[in-house]
Amino acid sequence: MKKLNTISDIAYINNKDLPASIQKEIFDEARIAYKDKDENYQPRVLLIGGAGYIGTIVSQYLLDYGYQVRCYDNLIYGQYNNVLPFLNNTNYEFIYGDICNQMELELALKNVDSVVLLAGLVGDPITKTYPDESELINEKGIINTISMLNGKGIRKVVFISTCSNYGLINNDELAAEDYQLNPLSLYAKAKVSTEKYILSLKDNVDYHPTILRFATAFGLSPRMRFDLTISEFVHDLYFGKELLVYDANTWRPYCHVADFALLIRRTLEFPVSYTSFEVFNAGGEINNFTKQGVVDHITKFIPNCAVKYKDHGADPRNYRVNFSKVKEIMHFEPSFSVEDGIQELIFALSNHLFDSVDSNRNDFGNYKLKLST
Ligand SMILES: NC(=O)c1ccc[n+]([C@@H]2O[C@H](COP(=O)([O-])OP(=O)(O)OC[C@H]3O[C@@H](n4cnc5c(N)ncnc54)[C@H](O)[C@@H]3O)[C@@H](O)[C@H]2O)c1
Repeated sequence: MKKLNTISDIAYINNKDLPASIQKEIFDEARIAYKDKDENYQPRVLLIGGAGYIGTIVSQYLLDYGYQVRCYDNLIYGQYNNVLPFLNNTNYEFIYGDICNQMELELALKNVDSVVLLAGLVGDPITKTYPDESELINEKGIINTISMLNGKGIRKVVFISTCSNYGLINNDELAAEDYQLNPLSLYAKAKVSTEKYILSLKDNVDYHPTILRFATAFGLSPRMRFDLTISEFVHDLYFGKELLVYDANTWRPYCHVADFALLIRRTLEFPVSYTSFEVFNAGGEINNFTKQGVVDHITKFIPNCAVKYKDHGADPRNYRVNFSKVKEIMHFEPSFSVEDGIQELIFALSNHLFDSVDSNRNDFGNYKLKLST
């Protein structure tokens, strides 16, 4: 990747795969966004919750595309190892802090062009285990953070939400962004109330927010999470465990972490007329799968697996998602298939990169908090 040298590189190098007319609009957007800066200015993005599974990938990706990255995170699982390699990069800055701490956050918000909100207790199980912390962080902390963003000279805010918000839908339907939300867990309920809060700010804030409802993630990351379906299934089958799959015919959309990083960058760079106060499902229809479909793909590469099936598991979610809007408006389609992710992980497992997952469980998933907030 060529280093981004000038503001016009944002349009013409970062986005060379897009149609020329859009590149021109992105160029005009960059001219407005950075009008007071010199030509060599590198925009600064604050990644709140940037030390996690997705955030570490987004950090490296934005650095590669010429941005300055400031990560604000309280390393809630003790995952300090994941930020250490970034500290050699002069365009990277780590600030330890909690989104519930207004004073610390105030400092982190200084001189940033845009903010990506990734922080929180992520996933249904961790929010069930820690309901009080979940309320404090995922509801109060996030809303408090958002309420601090106005008047700070921030142009774009990206809130990372989840397709889990759809919960349970009729099997033959695909949920587009206006499909009725049916959050079933504390985790998704907090995402839905945050989305509502953000959308209620229209005409009352000086920045442009976008809500990205992410599919379930897969793909390698410095902070690996084996508590996510594809990674967990591949890991367990690779090591010859018997896999118990609940409700094999339930649907879920998946998306690779590298594709998420691209979509976040694109949201930061696209003209606000396309993104402001917009909600996008983030993923692609080729990666809508049942759990059975995921297992079938894995067993192509790991034969003779022991898989058992049961109905009526604890997680009733079942949703297939329509990704037309992000494709049409943001020209976004995932470049990684579920099969790519499975092969990538098997390659890493066969090179002994994840031999110690079972003995160091908490280093590889969202199971136990390091601190009580
Ligand atoms: N991973 C997925 O499958 C998935 C799917 C849909 C949406 N998302 C969303 O993407 C975002 C990132 O998910 P992830 O998988 O990287 O999760 P993660 O748990 O790996 O990362 C979350 C980060 O937030 C930090 N954090 C938690 N509480 C904090 C606090 N009080 N103050 C500051 N930092 C705090 C954690 O230390 C961690 O680094 C989340 O908003 C999540 O809801 C993820």
